[in-house]
Amino acid sequence: MNIIYSEVSKQFHLFNEEVSYIFKVLHNGHLCNLYYGSKLNHKDDFKNFYFESDLGATSYINDESKISFEYIRQEYSTFGCTDFTEGSYEIVQKDESYITDFKYKSHKIYDGKNKISNGDLPATFSNGDVKTLEVTLFDDKIGCELVLNYSIFKNKSVIARSTVVKSLKEEIKITRLMSSTVDFEGDNFELLQLEGAWIRERHIEKSKLRKGKQSIYSLRGCSSPQHNPFFALGKGEIKEYTGEVYGFNFVYSGNFLAEIDVNHYSNTRVNVGIHPFKFEANLKKGEVFETPEVILSYSNKGLNGLSQTNHKLIKENLMKNYELPPIVINNWEATYFDFDEQKLLNLAKKAKEIGVETFVLDDGWFGRRNDATSSLGDWYVNENKLPNGITGLCKKINDLGMNFGLWIEPEMVNKESELYKQKPDWAIQTPNRNMSQGRNQYVLDFANDEVVEYIYEKISNILNSCNISYVKWDMNRHITEGYSKTLQNQGLFYHKYILGVYKLMRKLTEQFPKIMFENCSSGGGRFDLGMLYYSPQIWTSDNTDPVDRLNIQEGTSIAYPLRAISNHISVAPNHQTGRKTPISMRANVAYFGCFGYELDLTKNDENELKLFKSQIEFYKKYRNLIIEGDFYRTTESGIKNNYCWQVVSKDKKESIVGAYQIKSETNELRKVIKLVGLNKDTQYCVTGFQQTFFGDELMNVGIPITKYFNGVSMNFEDMKESVENEGVYGICDYSSQIFLIKAI
Ligand code: GLA
Repeated sequence: MNIIYSEVSKQFHLFNEEVSYIFKVLHNGHLCNLYYGSKLNHKDDFKNFYFESDLGATSYINDESKISFEYIRQEYSTFGCTDFTEGSYEIVQKDESYITDFKYKSHKIYDGKNKISNGDLPATFSNGDVKTLEVTLFDDKIGCELVLNYSIFKNKSVIARSTVVKSLKEEIKITRLMSSTVDFEGDNFELLQLEGAWIRERHIEKSKLRKGKQSIYSLRGCSSPQHNPFFALGKGEIKEYTGEVYGFNFVYSGNFLAEIDVNHYSNTRVNVGIHPFKFEANLKKGEVFETPEVILSYSNKGLNGLSQTNHKLIKENLMKNYELPPIVINNWEATYFDFDEQKLLNLAKKAKEIGVETFVLDDGWFGRRNDATSSLGDWYVNENKLPNGITGLCKKINDLGMNFGLWIEPEMVNKESELYKQKPDWAIQTPNRNMSQGRNQYVLDFANDEVVEYIYEKISNILNSCNISYVKWDMNRHITEGYSKTLQNQGLFYHKYILGVYKLMRKLTEQFPKIMFENCSSGGGRFDLGMLYYSPQIWTSDNTDPVDRLNIQEGTSIAYPLRAISNHISVAPNHQTGRKTPISMRANVAYFGCFGYELDLTKNDENELKLFKSQIEFYKKYRNLIIEGDFYRTTESGIKNNYCWQVVSKDKKESIVGAYQIKSETNELRKVIKLVGLNKDTQYCVTGFQQTFFGDELMNVGIPITKYFNGVSMNFEDMKESVENEGVYGICDYSSQIFLIKAI
């Protein structure tokens, strides 16, 4: 890993073993991108990468040169001076003009990474494996500095970027400030985005780029289940194991814009940043605005290579409180709001018997909350339901030998609450306008520090009151009528809101370092790197149907590690889809992530409880491999009938394969599961096979699956039972199987 600046050619080369990123200072002082892709041998001058061209019908920056920012690929683009796109930023000056001329002034290269000055804003950190370049550009007319930050990581093809504006002379108004711009040569890219909605999060969608602008964004006050802030661009077509893929992921949980613009010279521009709509930052002399960070990742080994790079980065350089996930029972689908202490203890006892480690008490334990119409904001215990309080319940759960976890939704208030009666203006609203509701609730004004401090006091009192080891932090509606009475500049409202959320998360995670925070937003509605910085796992979706989960978890795995993906086994028929699936299928899907249960165990018979017990034994035995191993999607991503997932230990001696069939295929000859990531010369044994296989056989030919049912060879009842209990892949709808692969 290194960053080299050549004085002669004025070129910067950031590189490690896998990736090179090269840009230069032009003779007018602006920056121009030369290359971003597979690692290149270092040279002091990559002069062939730069060219000036005499093009028709365009404008040039002066008489002497042929520099036109219509075709020259910029590092950070400037609108209005031969660049006709919206650019990376807009700075409006005292006289209402917006033209700027930021020229190279200086740069710094150093080991490590400086903290973002707002200590609440999440960002990647260095473990002695990062080098940083800060390039300062200066506009002397307005006396303003623009600093572009680049951090490159050792052994990971990742560059983290962010932008800082410092006003040194006069007041300026920033109405757009992207965290990064990357101008690519060419437009032959496929775009992969993670699309969705509530209970349909992060479905993979692929499309060819077209000329003009296309974007992914959120204006909901959170990153949203609709468009995840991660996306990838692949050269040509995106494949799992071959080809070049560029990933972008925003370390931010608020409104964002990811914008791709293909111009008439077939150059492709990618901007990522805070959404400029309803954004404005006014800087007085001496003031600074710093953007969140964007993670640029690169793979020349297809999408799976990109996923593994992202997984590694998130686990090693982003998650603050990294540890293995506990196995939980969550009472939500077991009881919803209808519980008392005894009911919870009965559930906890059963959970303990099967080996569950943590009992999580979900919504409904506070104020007078018996349904979704009241009490958010009233963070004191409902003694009608829990006469011994949270403290009493927690102690009883601890006495059973289990850890205790608690659900909170700190950003919200119901009109039906003590808090709203006392502080109606703390709910976000625009004066003299209608207040829209969502799930009967309103969002608290976290742009107002007083609100954040008040909620901090309340939540920290509860967390102090007993031995809580796990918190599920929910957020169940999006912001409407966004406005804060405490802000003079409403252009900062959405940003200040999310900074307030981060502030509360920072304070609570610092005060309670032993508590494991799980994030949630009506399921996986705020599944982003900002949240993962504070909480290493996220409730992936309120949809617990394993068939739907195949798409949801597969899409999520493109950008996020299994450590982040929280999965529970629930009942069949499923509460969200009504689908009936075997217990084996539900477990085999849920194993790939943070494992748990969300059903009324007191209603399960002995046979089912025995199955759960053996599932938990399996997960405990392989938890480390699942969470720490390398994850592979062994079939091409996309919606399909068969799925196959695999984790491989770092030493390649052990692997777990999950194979899933949604719909039975009739008169099929046989199935073959082709593996990846093994050692080709090692011999492995595979569950269910007497013979051993070399790694190269498993990777080039695969595990052969002969179908059991051919009309004669198996009794239908036996078949049903083995699908339900053990899991047998390939013989009927919703059939699945786990294969263990072990080196001998
Ligand atoms: C959201 C969450 C659920 C559950 C409920 C409680 O929908 O996603 O898991 O916690 O809220 O109200």
